Amino acid sequence: MKNLNRHVFLIGFMGTGKSAISAQLGEMMMLDVWDTDKLITESRGMSIPEIFEREGEDYFRDLETDTLRLLSAAEGHIISCGGGIVLREENIRMMRELGQVVLLTARPQTVYERVKADTQRPLLKGNLNATYIEELMTKRQSAYERASHISVATDDKSVLDICREILFDL
Ligand code: S3P
Repeated sequence: MKNLNRHVFLIGFMGTGKSAISAQLGEMMMLDVWDTDKLITESRGMSIPEIFEREGEDYFRDLETDTLRLLSAAEGHIISCGGGIVLREENIRMMRELGQVVLLTARPQTVYERVKADTQRPLLKGNLNATYIEELMTKRQSAYERASHISVATDDKSVLDICREILFDL
């Protein structure tokens, strides 16, 4: 395993399991877990939908970049990232400099099943269907691939098995 003293970033589309997998991976690697969405909502005192509604998506993306900048000073953590973190090249560069980047993937239908009851994802509001999810996923695909060192499919697998796979590949 490389880069033990650095961060492990979990990236991937909404609903690919980043939160559950980062929590389990944190236990297995004995590392604390941070979540960029949580860091942002705690520091701004607003929910993600509120930030999108009041300040707009660009502002939210600025906050994601600021959050990654802060991580350069911290010791190794598991970092669960918002699904759009790869939309800025600067973010991709920073993550790859600061640690290992793990891409979690899932089929559009799997994502749909996992997020269909959700109300906290502004980008899916009014568009909560597998066709739209596939479109957005396809748009982001090359950025996810460019950003990641390893990639793990999460469909039809337990969180524990996914973590074992990640640990094997890291
Ligand atoms: C987003 C994903 C969300 C959150 C925000 C935008 C995206 O995080 O950061 O709603 O652009 O894909 P999750 O991937 O944890 O749902």
